[in-house]
Amino acid sequence: MLIRPAQAKDANNLAALALQVWLHTYAKEGIRDAISVYVLTEFTPEKFRQLIAAPDKLLLVAESDRHLIAYAVLAFDTPQAAAPQAATELATLYVQAHFAGRGVGSRLLQDCAEAARQRCGNGALWLTTNNQNARAIAFYRKQGYSKCGTAYFVLDGERHENDVMARPTN
Ligand SMILES: CC(C)(COP(=O)(O)OP(=O)(O)OC[C@H]1O[C@@H](n2cnc3c(N)ncnc32)[C@H](O)[C@@H]1OP(=O)(O)O)[C@@H](O)C(=O)NCCC(=O)NCCS
Repeated sequence: MLIRPAQAKDANNLAALALQVWLHTYAKEGIRDAISVYVLTEFTPEKFRQLIAAPDKLLLVAESDRHLIAYAVLAFDTPQAAAPQAATELATLYVQAHFAGRGVGSRLLQDCAEAARQRCGNGALWLTTNNQNARAIAFYRKQGYSKCGTAYFVLDGERHENDVMARPTN
């Protein structure tokens, strides 16, 4: 497995992977208009090109045999009141289901903390995860993260409760 910063040429593959992982993880009752409109407007090659070019963001991709299998997005200088020790948000960590449970997420998370350390001298990350996403919460707990607050993801007027998680110390 190779982990590297994303380049503009990765945008199509990133859009396809993001769609697949988001729908697999969150559209458990099937797909309705609000969901299809959300994923088809949020996960586009153009949005990924903008993300890759953004100076305050870093997108890391994981490749296996020249295939994209996972990616992570860091947002620098993004303070979180519930986690004052962390200045960097782990905005996305997605591993394709076929590669889940093999250490890919752990490796990417390590590389994200190191990237934050190099960028701002502080490897502490904070994140939000849907409070129904038991597997992700188990993963982050295993990595030493714990719940330190609550946030909401709003889709189609519905508020989805998220846990804010961070490691107590970096
Ligand atoms: C959550 C996620 C990032 C974890 O990455 P991963 O590469 O599967 O995890 P790793 O192999 O590094 O770590 C394994 C641990 O992750 C957890 N885990 C989460 N999802 C898992 C899965 N589908 N299969 C196996 N383990 C999983 C378990 O706690 C496991 O520990 P265990 O082996 O002792 O049971 C990844 O499964 C994923 O992208 N899931 C879908 C999208 C998502 O929920 N992203 C996070 C939202 S904030």
